[in-house]
Amino acid sequence: MGAMKAVVLCGGEGTRLRPFTHTQAKHLLPVAGRPVVEHALEAVREAGITDVVVVVSPGVERQFRERLGDGARLGLRLAYALQPEPKGLAHAVLCAEELLGDEPFLVYLGDNLLERGVAGVVDLFRRERPEAVVSLQRVPDPRRFGVAVVEGRRLVRLVEKPREPPSDLAIVGAYAFTPLLFRAAREIRPSFRGELELTDCLQWLLDRGHTVLPHLVEGWWQDVGRPGDLLVANRLLLARLSPRVEGEVDGSSRVEGSVVVEAGARVVGSRLVGPVWIGAGGTVERAVIGPHVAVGPGAEVRGAHVEDAILMDGARVEGGTLRVSVVGRRAEIRQGSTAYPISAFLGDDSVLGPKEDR
Ligand code: TTP
Repeated sequence: MGAMKAVVLCGGEGTRLRPFTHTQAKHLLPVAGRPVVEHALEAVREAGITDVVVVVSPGVERQFRERLGDGARLGLRLAYALQPEPKGLAHAVLCAEELLGDEPFLVYLGDNLLERGVAGVVDLFRRERPEAVVSLQRVPDPRRFGVAVVEGRRLVRLVEKPREPPSDLAIVGAYAFTPLLFRAAREIRPSFRGELELTDCLQWLLDRGHTVLPHLVEGWWQDVGRPGDLLVANRLLLARLSPRVEGEVDGSSRVEGSVVVEAGARVVGSRLVGPVWIGAGGTVERAVIGPHVAVGPGAEVRGAHVEDAILMDGARVEGGTLRVSVVGRRAEIRQGSTAYPISAFLGDDSVLGPKEDR
């Protein structure tokens, strides 16, 4: 077997993540200081795969190329495939067919984050050489997932978003396939929502007697679908950062817990309560930051208390208390004398503040 490749799916519209996805692809939104997809790509590399096809929508291809380039910075070789329309996960994989060639490959949804990464799927596939491996995790309410029925060590049946789930095993967004998948994807019909589903491809394989092995995922699994998910993912990933202060923290500031201050950031007269990440060129003055806060590159916080939040590149927060918030690129929140804490999901370049300020 040649080297296994990976295809990371970053198509789709990300409608549930508006307003942020009006201006930026969902997978490029920052979580714990890096785009969602970089966390996914890192997991791919940790699984021992270096050749990766990233499937993107044509409208955001440039954003991806600008941010990820050829992947060298991440220790990867990246190629891009375009999915003209979001016609489903199996359709997205078909868009990468030429670049994937005739070796087995990992399929990983670029908005799925896994505590233990994807090495488990890849290792199981390499060891047992089945036709497919699908990752599963037990969930309390499986109705909004693809659901699998497992007997012994084998997977026997799959249903997409069942009203009456036959088990509590949800399909996680990490799979491994042989190129037979392409044939399955070409032969299945679109689902009731008009998409070519990977779940139906897996069922196609099962119906023809091929072996599909389940891989039970341990540790947390978080997909980034809605704005609140960005904050959950931010908390989970910030908790894993190793503390490191390379920027400037003045003598009157206090640093508690796990805190990263990148080179070129400046912290003055403030308290940082980890887990906290301050990006390069970020400025924090007379503020209390944390826990669970990522301050993006070039963002500024002055005289404010910020907790459980993502401030994207160049965002500005002045005064007041901000909690459970995502502030877009260059967006501004000026609370002035407002006494009560606020929570905001503010798109790029938006302004929130008293009228007289403008
Ligand atoms: P979804 O979250 O199901 O779809 P979406 O990203 O378009 O979001 P929304 O429902 O808010 O509009 O997609 C799951 C993952 O699969 C995500 O990483 C995007 C990717 N995807 C594709 O690459 N192509 C597709 O055709 C679809 C539907 C999803």
